[in-house]
Amino acid sequence: MPASIILGAQWGDEGKGKITDLLSERADVVIRYQGGNNAGHTIVVGDQKFALSLIPSGVLYPTVTPVIGNGVVVDPKWFFEEKEILAKRGIDASNVKISNNAHLIMPYHRKLDAVIERFLGNAMIGTTKRGIGPAYTDKFSRVGIRVQDLFDEKIFLEKLTASLKTKNKILMKVYNQLPMDIDEIADEYLGYADALAPHVADTSLLVYEAVRDGKNVLFEGGQGTLLDIDHGTYPFVTSSNPTAGGAPVGIGIGPTMIDKVIGVTKAYISRVGTGPFPTELNDEIGDRMIDIGGEYGVVTGRRSRCGWLDMVALRYSVRVNGLTEIALTKLDILSHFDTVKIATAYTAGGEKYTEFPRQQGVLYHCTPEYEELPGWNVDISKIDDYDDLPANARAYVERMEELAGVPIKTVSVGPGRRATLHRG
Ligand code: GDP
Ligand code: IMO
Ligand code: MG
Repeated sequence: MPASIILGAQWGDEGKGKITDLLSERADVVIRYQGGNNAGHTIVVGDQKFALSLIPSGVLYPTVTPVIGNGVVVDPKWFFEEKEILAKRGIDASNVKISNNAHLIMPYHRKLDAVIERFLGNAMIGTTKRGIGPAYTDKFSRVGIRVQDLFDEKIFLEKLTASLKTKNKILMKVYNQLPMDIDEIADEYLGYADALAPHVADTSLLVYEAVRDGKNVLFEGGQGTLLDIDHGTYPFVTSSNPTAGGAPVGIGIGPTMIDKVIGVTKAYISRVGTGPFPTELNDEIGDRMIDIGGEYGVVTGRRSRCGWLDMVALRYSVRVNGLTEIALTKLDILSHFDTVKIATAYTAGGEKYTEFPRQQGVLYHCTPEYEELPGWNVDISKIDDYDDLPANARAYVERMEELAGVPIKTVSVGPGRRATLHRG
């Protein structure tokens, strides 16, 4: 394993939590490198289900040091709530380390996220309203507040005063909102400092030393490749880089320290929120995928949109992330369909696209070209050897692998840890 990135190869909710948890059994350190509590990573252990948002999926193993890297935006209120929820279920998150350089999500970020969306009307992105976009906006505008600022009251108050002055003007004059109270925010945030102190670390150094010493290190992405601010379907994206390039930046190590890039991919595809989606099925098949697949956002509870596997998009994901392997999830959901389809190209305006189109408008108007394969129509969720899968299920996986050009090393056939088949 030594140092591997695990990231979403589609529009999120691919099953990153399950795969990260699985590999965490042998990991020493598991690090989130971007996003924040917009993520919803599900882990099923026996009859217990955990939904993690901010805390890395390695937390269920006491042998793992979970790390929140500098590239993550941290809502401290949320962090303590998630820690508390885990504690009630017997999971100790007191060894979570948080980067001193991570930016804080402030109450005005959450408020702005909600009002900006409301003002966008039909053009809304459908964000999680957790303040992610506005927090990253402040980071890149150089008016953000970092975790380390909580430990220097003078600096914290200076930064908060400057930031809130502008934010309150925007809230009042642009969005017709009441201003927010600086004392309330200052009291709340400075009040977190003592409890946060034991969590704060130079996580760049921590991870560097772990990789250097040959420990098993996992970098866990939030969201997915097509939600990447640079490589996704902008503006219907999140405000960070879930792609592999985001990992070294969001951790503070060099790219040469990373050995593997594992792309987690569902056997079909889903999306929550708005934006183009070439293989979306607005029909009875799509509805069945949503219902059988339980495709409802973990964070917002919203019903997702679903469609057949899109190999144009997946090949794009292989390319922009430099995937070295694929972990395929939810193959069991396709057991309920008589035939299964894979999109191998798009056509639009008489042109055929085998690569993700350079002009995004094409994604709205194109027609996917499908290969149709026979289904297998039997329950595969209890199978524990890849070779015991029905021939049609193996044919699907192997055709997908051929089209992707990288090996599918893991095939998941159920949410639990054991429902995982290893290949090669
Ligand atoms: P993440 O955000 O990428 O971690 O994925 P989510 O947790 O948002 O969504 C994946 C959902 O699928 C969760 O409910 C998982 O428990 C579930 N899941 C993961 N792998 C499988 C699988 O192979 N089969 C089935 N049926 N469910 C799975
Ligand atoms: P995981 O890690 C699926 C989507 C939102 C919205 C867009 C921007 O569970 O795969 P944001 O709040 O980030 O500004 O919203 O991104 N989105 C996700 N969709 N899974 C996620 O995380 C997501 N995180 C954000 O629905 O369309
Ligand atoms: Mg999710």
